[in-house]
Amino acid sequence: MMEAQEQGYFTEANSAEVVISRNSAAKDERLKAVMAVIVRKLHEAVKEIEPTPDEWIKAIRFLTETGQMCNEWRQEFILLSDVTGVSMLVDAINNRKPSGASESTVLGPFHVANAPALPMGANICLDHKGEDMIIHGRILDTGGKPVAGALLDVWQANDEGFYDVQQKGIQPDFNLRGRFVTGEDGRYWFRAVKPKFYPIPDDGPVGRLLRALGRHPHRPAHLHFILSADGFETLTTHIFDPDDPYINSDAVFGVKESLLADFQSVDDAERAKELDFKSPFWEVDYDFVLARPRS
Ligand code: BEZ
Ligand code: FE
Repeated sequence: MMEAQEQGYFTEANSAEVVISRNSAAKDERLKAVMAVIVRKLHEAVKEIEPTPDEWIKAIRFLTETGQMCNEWRQEFILLSDVTGVSMLVDAINNRKPSGASESTVLGPFHVANAPALPMGANICLDHKGEDMIIHGRILDTGGKPVAGALLDVWQANDEGFYDVQQKGIQPDFNLRGRFVTGEDGRYWFRAVKPKFYPIPDDGPVGRLLRALGRHPHRPAHLHFILSADGFETLTTHIFDPDDPYINSDAVFGVKESLLADFQSVDDAERAKELDFKSPFWEVDYDFVLARPRS
């Protein structure tokens, strides 16, 4: 004898309720609640879209190819989450900061753990290609006090828009990466090159989707940071070049107004010499403010 159909048999009208009630014995309450929302919204979408069988199979093939594109280095599902704004939405929900604290943005796939630990002032550009840039500022708490012993982990693309890990054998390993620790004054400074915009990996199904939607795959020029210190929430963020051509159309929606830095062109032969730079060079001054953990 079949079990009683607690919501009746599946019909177009009651489709979501029937599926949700079938999941009612789930032991994991969070899983049950999440699946209920997903089933409800998915059925609502299907009812609004009314896909043909061909459209449905096309969608399934897209997801299949997205999975097949994934490997240890390539996470096509995360890219799909990025270009649909889901990654930034999850980031926003989980990083509601107190007022005055620096805002977060996406981590991206190009972070490498254990970049070289460097003294303040070091040049993270190992191949001396690109336009010289000095970056400095302070790491503060929300009361404006310097944070000592803060770890600043930075990584960036080069002046052609490539990370070292995308150009193994062309760029030196750990090019444009480094970790710095602040002293009592909370100050940081290091030398680098002006980064350039670049496309997110677009040779897979997500790239095809962007083209079909009339969208470009580019991210505006930025530097990535992870800032951590005892007694503070870890901050994963970027600073952006506000003059970048893609600043208002980041493929992954990562730009926030507070993350726009001022990239100043400095023509000063004497300072350039001190820094072992060519003049003119770029200068960026940007303070980060760390939040205390929420209780
Ligand atoms: C990045 O900024 O490194 C990045 C973020 C999301 C997708 C691809 C790259
Ligand atoms: Fe990036």
